[in-house]
Amino acid sequence: MSSLPLPPSVLRPSWIEVDLDAIEHNVAQIRARLDGVRLLVVVKADAYGLGAVQVSRVLEKCGVDCLGVVCLDEALQLRNAGIRLPILNMGAILPQHADRVVKQHLEQVVSDIETAQAISAAALKHNAPASVHLKIDTGMSRYGMPWQEVGERFGPLFQLPHLRWIGAMSHFANSDGLDKSFPLLQLSRFLQARQHLTEKGIQLPIWHICNSGGTCDLPQAHLDMVRVGLMVYGYYPDPEVQKPFDLHPALSLKSVMVAVRELQRGDSVGYGRRYMAKTRERIAVLPIGYADGFDRKLRNVGQVLLHGCLVPIIGGLCMDACFIRIEDVPEARCGDTATLIGRQGDLEISPHDIAAQIGSVSYEVMARLGKRLPRVYLHHGTVCETVNQLCP
Ligand SMILES: Cc1ncc(COP(=O)(O)O)c(C=O)c1O
Repeated sequence: MSSLPLPPSVLRPSWIEVDLDAIEHNVAQIRARLDGVRLLVVVKADAYGLGAVQVSRVLEKCGVDCLGVVCLDEALQLRNAGIRLPILNMGAILPQHADRVVKQHLEQVVSDIETAQAISAAALKHNAPASVHLKIDTGMSRYGMPWQEVGERFGPLFQLPHLRWIGAMSHFANSDGLDKSFPLLQLSRFLQARQHLTEKGIQLPIWHICNSGGTCDLPQAHLDMVRVGLMVYGYYPDPEVQKPFDLHPALSLKSVMVAVRELQRGDSVGYGRRYMAKTRERIAVLPIGYADGFDRKLRNVGQVLLHGCLVPIIGGLCMDACFIRIEDVPEARCGDTATLIGRQGDLEISPHDIAAQIGSVSYEVMARLGKRLPRVYLHHGTVCETVNQLCP
């Protein structure tokens, strides 16, 4: 794909390519194993950096059941772009914003009486019942009604008028590790909360707890719906999970070599002079840096792909540039494209590889990819859209 002719709106010689075919393929792979279970795709954080609007348009065509976001702004961005799919806001709202939930036909998680009352009042005002999911804390200690208290505390929320309680959710703390004892404990707590409600004659139709890790490894936890993010974008949450799907990576990060230098022994490279040439060697500059989410910790440990070979990132990363050593790729010339995330020939650099080098997780590597990088969307192998957020 390095030979892809760049559309004129991509002014910057560093950009992201998003393979929408891969997203369609991954959704089909996941759906095929769900056996009637609903699929919510998590598109928070701009669809993990890939572009929430463009990704959601494709997901709408793939027929996923629901989209997941974590704040009202993310939901409204999708509604403003014409997305009609059900959208679940999995994050908290302030009571004064309950109107937005109702007016934009959003689904909202709720775990406290104040929020429930505010949404109920907004629903009455607009004469439109609001769809809500009970959020239950089974072990994240983050959001949600504690699972042991659901039986006694949910009653007053359930009595409020104009609320359609369509589901209940919880979230796994470590579903992607080898040891499944804690996720299984969380699942049993979640099911106990369901049992407590059933005993009180309360039935909530859609129970959901699985993220990517749970969807891979814990089919017994799929329940009525799974919420998948990372796997839809083509990556497993951890090398340790089972790999039941044939996932296609949707993300590539590319940058053009804009300068080449011949160093002499003892020449230093970049801020802080953190790399010294030990001999005569060739280096190149890629115009991408930590302001684009390309982490400074990649200095002297990261690699990029060039002419199908792995070459090292050397010296300190700048805000807008980084250096690679191209001594071992004699054919490399100014104007060649390096792949920082993605595939060249048989080799691939994944967000997980970068995460391992900087002590992070692939989620962070993807979500930090900056707004300054143009996004180029590919569908059926050709460019179907570009997004330049700095000069749209
Ligand atoms: C509440 C919730 N559900 C589901 C997901 C999806 O997780 P994953 O990307 O591992 O599938 C997330 C992401 O962090 C989340 O916050």
